[in-house]
Amino acid sequence: LDDGLARTPPMGWMSWEKFMCNIDCDNYPDTCVNEQLYKRQAELMVSEGYLEAGYTQVNIDDCWSTLERDPVTDEQVADPDRFPSGIKALSKFMHDRDLKMGLYSDIGSKTCGGYIGMEDHLELDANTFASWDIDMLKVDGCFEDTSVMNATYSELSAALNATGRDIIYSCSWPAYLDDYGEGDGGAVLYRLQEICHMWRNYDDIQDSWASVSDIINKWRRTDPNDPFVTVAQPGAWNDPDMLMVGNTGLSIAEERSQFAIWSILAAPLMMSNDLATVSDESKAILLNREIIEVDQDSLGKQGMQVASSDSEYSEGAYRVWARELHDGSYAIVLQNAFSMEMGVKIQFTPDMIGWDKDQQFTARDLFKKEDLEGTLSEVTMIVEPSDVQMIRVYKA
Ligand code: GLA
Repeated sequence: LDDGLARTPPMGWMSWEKFMCNIDCDNYPDTCVNEQLYKRQAELMVSEGYLEAGYTQVNIDDCWSTLERDPVTDEQVADPDRFPSGIKALSKFMHDRDLKMGLYSDIGSKTCGGYIGMEDHLELDANTFASWDIDMLKVDGCFEDTSVMNATYSELSAALNATGRDIIYSCSWPAYLDDYGEGDGGAVLYRLQEICHMWRNYDDIQDSWASVSDIINKWRRTDPNDPFVTVAQPGAWNDPDMLMVGNTGLSIAEERSQFAIWSILAAPLMMSNDLATVSDESKAILLNREIIEVDQDSLGKQGMQVASSDSEYSEGAYRVWARELHDGSYAIVLQNAFSMEMGVKIQFTPDMIGWDKDQQFTARDLFKKEDLEGTLSEVTMIVEPSDVQMIRVYKA
């Protein structure tokens, strides 16, 4: 949505994957979905340096509301036991710390968790949410017929715009479709580009390598004219879902892989973890400024897979990903997607990104934060199983 918002992919934190719909605050006082949870994470966003690195959003997900609308005003209402101060007060808490407030709802009759949905109340809810000073709204697609989503998501886009408040609009519409992108020649994606700032493409991410690598494999796109690649631009981003970095389900190699490939994909960087328990090693990944810079590059061009080769035991296991950046340099990820054996050598050559095959270049290792020595004509690095290496290359 080309209205000046989300010119780079949104960054922040959201509760869903880590805290889901835990509303049992008696048994889980520290991990249930209540206003304290968001305040604690917000404080950590600031004190642990995430805000300074660019993570600004603190997003409530499902299960924040009551089950019924206010009988008098018909408005959505925050659960009075878990959010006694209300969402507007929580927005103020965030704004006082230079953070931004995100909220969740659903375009259908109910949210996926069974809470209040926006159906037949798009304008009213847009106005209510704007009056609560929110900065971002994720709108899910449960309990809605996919055949009307083009109309309803568009209508809500207009209603949000009419509030006059700057609200980043995240649409889950395509995650509910079986066939789009290839099947429809890109029609849905190009509609999303017009009406939403970002959209979820696929199923929910989980804290496991099976889940994260499955999503990565869906993004092994190799055609620069693929609508899944060309649709991304400032104000309009594909969303491969939350970062699992800092949780317990991925190894450090797998966390590096997710972070590096998300940055190639120009993906929103929304962590879902408990910021109180992120290990130092994971934190170093999340706060890697040079990789964040790739993700947030102002050209806003999504990257893709530019080469792959087979391991004897796994087809297409060794991959090279690339993303063009605003200064003519490229971010390159060498991925070993095979999870057995020792580290293997993966090679980057300039022809992979359309440079002359004899083009000399310099390179910087973005994980080590060190320049590679000298002027180069190719880079070969050892990549451990389920791991990546990441470099940025500049024409010499
Ligand atoms: C869907 C979404 C998730 C989360 C849940 C909440 O599954 O894809 O990201 O918002 O709903 O119920």
